[in-house]
Amino acid sequence: MDHIDIIQPDDWHLHVRDGDFLKTVVPHTAEHFARAVIMPNLKEPLTTAQSAMSYKERILKSVPDHLNFEPLMTLYLTDHIKASEMAVAKAHGVVALKLYPAGATTNSDLGVTNIKHIYPVLEEMQKLGLLLLVHGEVTDPSVDVFDREAVFIDRQLIPLRKDFPGLRIVFEHITTKEACEYVQSVDEGLAATLTAHHLLLNRNAIFKGGLRPHYYCLPVLKRETHRLALLQAASSGDARFFLGTDSAPHLASLKEHASACAGCYTASVAMSLYASAFESVGRLDQLERFASLNGPAFYGLGQNTRQLRLKKLPLKVHDAYPYGLGELKPLFAGETLEWSAQLL
Ligand code: NCD
Ligand code: ZN
Repeated sequence: MDHIDIIQPDDWHLHVRDGDFLKTVVPHTAEHFARAVIMPNLKEPLTTAQSAMSYKERILKSVPDHLNFEPLMTLYLTDHIKASEMAVAKAHGVVALKLYPAGATTNSDLGVTNIKHIYPVLEEMQKLGLLLLVHGEVTDPSVDVFDREAVFIDRQLIPLRKDFPGLRIVFEHITTKEACEYVQSVDEGLAATLTAHHLLLNRNAIFKGGLRPHYYCLPVLKRETHRLALLQAASSGDARFFLGTDSAPHLASLKEHASACAGCYTASVAMSLYASAFESVGRLDQLERFASLNGPAFYGLGQNTRQLRLKKLPLKVHDAYPYGLGELKPLFAGETLEWSAQLL
């Protein structure tokens, strides 16, 4: 097969940062994706509808004129966010709220310290039909970093779903067999996003020939058995799994650092990566469901009308992009990928 055409995809989990950085990364996503769910973990987290709306305006200003792109806005849950803000958020078109356990990842210091603190907020979200997006890792330092997602399911997610059976939840960027199996066991109201890097790489990548910070993200890459389970779930046609790149740009100087930031930058080549992953298991026929149909269905939004062509054409990944006053190095920088993507 030398090409496939799919309905234009959406990215259901994306970091674009702010200020000058937007000019580099927003065009990369808008070139292929029609919409993206924008993560609210800015240096000053987005906790009000007002702040999310002005951020949306700044993002839109960075979209090249010839492209249409819709940022779908989210708010950041803190211990102190007000339940009354939920109706305001809904009225302004905010689609979801993001739960970062405090300390779990980049810019999560103001995240939730105890999920019980936000029960009134969750009650209101359930009533209004606002989605809850979860970074599903416990932060208990006694739990091994590779087990934090699996432990989160038992300690947090199962009790949470019991207390809020009507709350629609997306388990973000899942990385384990346990998470796949848990999502598959729930009939209603739970879905998961999967990144391209977790479908293509296992944890050996972080240590190949030396310590490789560009492969460091959270949740951290896992062993091969988990990667295979993720790939099977994503390509099975199951509507509960859909695309979320978790493309997370950081200055190269902060990635190549004694305490490297977590996050892989994949936005510019994401569809090439997903195509390779699906091709590796002979399931390119399922890519459209995963990338373009399952996400809108879970969020209750319409399907896109344009088409994206994926062509079996070598694509050299840029070594780096200018990024603010520094540079941004994409995952697989300098390597050649097998698929190219183009909006029709
Ligand atoms: C993300 C970031 O840099 O904002 N980093 C990452 O490793 N994925 C945050 C997140 O989604 O955990
Ligand atoms: Zn993320």
